[in-house]
Order: sequence, then structure tokens, then C-alpha cells
Amino acid sequence: MTTTTRFLTGITTSGTPHLGNYVGSIRPAVRASLTPGVESFYFLADYHALIKIDNPERIQRSTLEIAASWLAAGLDPSHVTFYRQSDIPEIQELCWFLTCVTGKGLLNRAHAYKAATDKNAAAGTELDDGVTAGLFMYPVLMGADILMFNAHKVPVGRDQIQHIEMARDMAASFNHLYGEHFTPPQAVIDDAVATLPGLDGRKMSKSYDNTIPLFAPREQLRKLILSIKTDSRAPGEPKEPEGSALFQIYQAFASTEETEALRAHYAAGIAWGEAKELLFERIDQEIAPMRTAYEDYIAHPEKVEAILLAGAAKARQITSPFMQTLRHAVGLRRLSVASSNRQKTEKSKLPSFKQFREKDGLFYFKLVSSAGEELLLSSGFADPKSAGAAIRQLVEQADEAKTLFQTHGYHVRADELALQALKELQDTV
Ligand code: TRP
Repeated sequence: MTTTTRFLTGITTSGTPHLGNYVGSIRPAVRASLTPGVESFYFLADYHALIKIDNPERIQRSTLEIAASWLAAGLDPSHVTFYRQSDIPEIQELCWFLTCVTGKGLLNRAHAYKAATDKNAAAGTELDDGVTAGLFMYPVLMGADILMFNAHKVPVGRDQIQHIEMARDMAASFNHLYGEHFTPPQAVIDDAVATLPGLDGRKMSKSYDNTIPLFAPREQLRKLILSIKTDSRAPGEPKEPEGSALFQIYQAFASTEETEALRAHYAAGIAWGEAKELLFERIDQEIAPMRTAYEDYIAHPEKVEAILLAGAAKARQITSPFMQTLRHAVGLRRLSVASSNRQKTEKSKLPSFKQFREKDGLFYFKLVSSAGEELLLSSGFADPKSAGAAIRQLVEQADEAKTLFQTHGYHVRADELALQALKELQDTV
């Protein structure tokens, strides 16, 4: 049982991180990951990226840039689990399991799919025109991401709430059919986190082409900030902070005192050019140290690769055994393994060890099945203690064999393994 709360979130590898991503997602996530009692999972959702991007170079580049950004912003991969979705093959397998318990009707109602079909309806074209099965299945893949780790909390934007609710439905359907395997996840929406306006005053977003890249070189950052849209008020004229994109961006980086100081400058009629210089210096103050780290990661992709592979190995310590359990639960099992019903009834009938002394004065033990059949007879020991030690050694070795089998993906009954190991070891006793 975990007593910690598991947080998990994915970042689609479809672009270059901008200041809006930093303020809205990267910075709060890095801070949250340091909270005690929290176990965090962050991953690069590159399978999801394939749904909207068919440019391989862009996927690869975006994966590097996003990973480098999170690391440069202070995500500590030894403290959290930071991995690339496509390094975890169990996610695809779980995606299929969930596909088989998810109603098609549920997916018909997913916002992204509905938006696409509504658009086609309005244009009078075939409803599914240009819609891939990937887009349709998007929520199931996301459900697999979340349920694979049994995450309790999923910090997302408002547009993703429906997906978390669908993941809850999938968890419930699976649990209903196959037993309690999944925890229903909860969406976490942080209202305190600012949505940053972009260069034109609308929400900073790639789709509006109004973004400021998080790690633009210093001079480029300055140029972009100087291009933020302002009104035509002249220097000396009082200005209002309300509705000023420049002010809102400043606020997302500055302390309360700094923000109040800028408010006073606005009232006193600061020139827009001057306010932009203030904003530029304030942002650069926070970003510059991270930029150095970012540039180093970008210049050494092999460092990022190694971190992601280590993260995947860590993640798979969870996903690999869990997938074994899930495979067993749905009936994808070794044929030599008893069904769970038989396992239950036979569990109480495990073979047992019996110690005894023979006429030759030596101490022996045998393994007897519940039906009284002698499965194994030891050679003679000089005293009961050494006979007992041999039993313990056998049990230990059987245990090791069991672990070995399980790490190689076989799900074998403990009693069968014990027996098998005992038979193999018979000669050595
Ligand atoms: N769909 C999310 C987005 O576009 C990214 C994502 C993929 C995700 N899998 C996830 C987020 C799992 C949270 C949990 O923002």
C-alpha cells in the first residue's frame, strides 16, 4: 500500500516550450514535486504527439527541448520519475486492455473528436473526414498513461478534465470485470496558476503564434518583449495595469513588492519602452541561470537520453510487474498455470515437511503432499538441527527460484515452484 499521493502528468512533444508553459505548468510542477509525501511522475507524451504531428524531426527535437526545459527548470530526476512514454511498452498493452472495456459511445463524446466531427458537419462533409483512429483513441491512451501508475492526482488544464473523467470510467469498467486493480484518478486544476497573455494580448498559445520561447537567447527575448502589444498612450500619460498584457506577464515573475512598484510606475506614466525593459530584465533574471543549463542539455542530447532511459528503467519497475498482474487478471496466462479458481481451492492444500528419526539413529525429513503422497525424502542427518537447516535452505532456494521466474515474466504458483525446486535439489541434500 502506498501512503504517498501519486501525481502524474504528461507533456505532448509537439512544440518548443514557451513562457506560458513555464508559468502554467513547468514551474508549478517542479515546485509541487518537492512537496513531502508526494510521488511525482512526469513524462513526455510522444505517442500522443504522433496523433497531430507527422514530422519525425519535429517530434525528436521537441522531445529534446521539452526534456531539457524541465531539467533546466529544476526537475530532479532522482526525486521524481521522469520518462518518455514510448520507452514504456506496457502503456501500449494497457491501452489495448482499456480499449476493450471502453464504450465506443463514450469516445464519440470526447471533446477533440466531437469538435472535428462538428466541423465536418458544418462544412457538409463526411463526419469522420480527416479524423484518424488515433485522434478517436486519444482518451484511451491517456487513460493508460494514468492508470498504469495508479496516479491519484493529475494536474492538467481545464480542457483535459473530460479525459480524466473518462479514465475514471475505464478504471471502473476494468475493476468491475476483473477485480480492484485501478484507483480512479482525480484532475487537479490549479486556479492560482496564471494563464499568461501572449505578444498580442490573447492567451499565449502556439495556435495563436503569439508565444515567447522560454529559452530564447537573451537578445531575442528582449526583442520579443519589446514587441508586446501596448496601447498608444505616450510617455508621461498614466497607464492602467488592468488589461495590460505587459503587466500580467510581469506579475507572473515578480514579487508582490515589485508588482506594486510597477503599478506605481504605471500611475506615474512610465513610457511603454521603459516598462518593457523592466519586464525583460525581470524575466531574464529568473531565466538566465536555467538558460545556461538548457543550452548545455541541448548541446549534449546524450545526457538527456541517459536521464530519460534511467527514468524509464525506474518507471518499468512499477509497470512491468503490474502488467503481469493485469495480464493474469484478464486471462493472458501461461497454460501451465492453474486458473485462479483452482489456485484458491488448492492453496490450503500445500505440501508440508515432516521430520522423523529412523532406526539407523539418523534424522530425516520428507515433503508430503496434502493427499499424503511422499514427494521427497532426504538423506540422513546426524542431528535434528542440521535436518532443519537443510529444510530452511530448500525453502530459501525455492523462494529464489520463484523470484527468478517472476522477474522473467512467468507467473507461476509458489507451491509448484517450491516442488519443482525441491525435486531439482533432491540430489544435493
Ligand atoms: N493530453 C495532455 C495534454 O495535451 C497530455 C497528456 C497525455 C497527459 N497523457 C497524459 C496529461 C496523462 C496528463 C496525464 O495536455
